[in-house]
Amino acid sequence: MSAKGLEGIVATQSSISSIIDGVLTYAGINIDELAENASFEEVVYLLWHGRLPKADELAQLKKDLAENATIPEDVIALLKASPEGNHPMSVLRTAISALALYDPEAQDMTREANLRKATRLQAKVATVIAAYHRLRQGKEIVAPRPDFCLAQNFLYMLNGEEPNQIAIDALDTALVLHADHELNASTFAARVTVATLSDIYSGITSAIGALKGPLHGGANEAVMAMLEDIKDPEQAESYVREKLAQKVKIMGFGHRVYKDGDPRAKHLRKMSEKLTGITGQPQWYEMSVKIDELVTSEKGLKPNVDFYSASVYHSLGIPRDLFTPIFAISRMAGWTAHILEQYENNRLIRPRAEYVGPVNAHYVPLDER
Ligand SMILES: CC(C)(COP(=O)(O)OP(=O)(O)OC[C@H]1O[C@@H](n2cnc3c(N)ncnc32)[C@H](O)[C@@H]1OP(=O)(O)O)[C@@H](O)C(=O)NCCC(=O)NCCS
Repeated sequence: MSAKGLEGIVATQSSISSIIDGVLTYAGINIDELAENASFEEVVYLLWHGRLPKADELAQLKKDLAENATIPEDVIALLKASPEGNHPMSVLRTAISALALYDPEAQDMTREANLRKATRLQAKVATVIAAYHRLRQGKEIVAPRPDFCLAQNFLYMLNGEEPNQIAIDALDTALVLHADHELNASTFAARVTVATLSDIYSGITSAIGALKGPLHGGANEAVMAMLEDIKDPEQAESYVREKLAQKVKIMGFGHRVYKDGDPRAKHLRKMSEKLTGITGQPQWYEMSVKIDELVTSEKGLKPNVDFYSASVYHSLGIPRDLFTPIFAISRMAGWTAHILEQYENNRLIRPRAEYVGPVNAHYVPLDER
């Protein structure tokens, strides 16, 4: 019997992150501790090297990220030439693939070269998204600042003005929370691709394609679409009851692995409450809580990482179709860590399918069909 969706299948060994009894850790450190204390750059280092950086190592990583944050003119031209109306995740998938063409080390498979490419990818992904957003609005792109951390730079490049500390901290924590998640769909896609000994850019392109779907990273955007559709917290209950009666999935709920709640959701819920209060738009938080209580009591499904991220990103002034690209900025850390790990101890990933099609069929000539 095949396991539909590979549910429960342990497909590899990994020392990057774990979900054991509903507890998420990165290299053994509980996500709650990291959410409270770590910067995104510390987490990037942790995922790549399996330990927290010392002060000089962290400073070097920040310097490397800042120095690699610009993108080639040709890729900017590609962003400019992207036809209107495409989803930013489609543009990101194409731009990341294009970056490979401008990386002289793209085909160098040594660990050192792959680590350098991981640094470049981590540095450039935020620039690509911010630049595309500026260009589609007919605005000039904003060059990254070498003295800014990644979260700060992204908001700066997006809006063209220096973000406040509350916004920087909120985005930084959101990036920490999304950075890795064991063998999730996009990470698995990345590992399958590079297990053929294809290059890191191919792996990341596969991962971005997988993240885009609404059952994975695309859910955060779908949550905001639902909140905007509901508009008024008073309407939340009837809206959700109707959807449930129609057997429509409520985005941002349920999880393949967590059956008793996603440990990341409580951090985002707290952030949502704070940020929606600061922006004077508490309705998004109030509505979210009503939906949370209803779906939990009616279906026994708890919110996942995407549910409260929607109102968090909205409060940061980020347009809805950039929510999933932000997920990609963060998960780039995990994807690249998993790709490095896959190369270290590689074997082609090639499962089997249980055949359920016709048997003993024969070729019939065209004019006899
Ligand atoms: C995350 C998700 C894809 C996991 O999928 P899965 O492990 O394959 O679980 P299934 O889709 O088989 O769901 C099992 C049951 O719960 C129901 N269910 C799962 N998620 C649901 C949701 N968000 N809303 C309503 N019902 C849901 C399914 O309809 C199914 O019911 P059934 O047995 O009566 O058919 C799924 O929960 C989902 O689609 N959630 C919404 C999208 C989302 O938020 N994704 C982000 C994940 S971090």
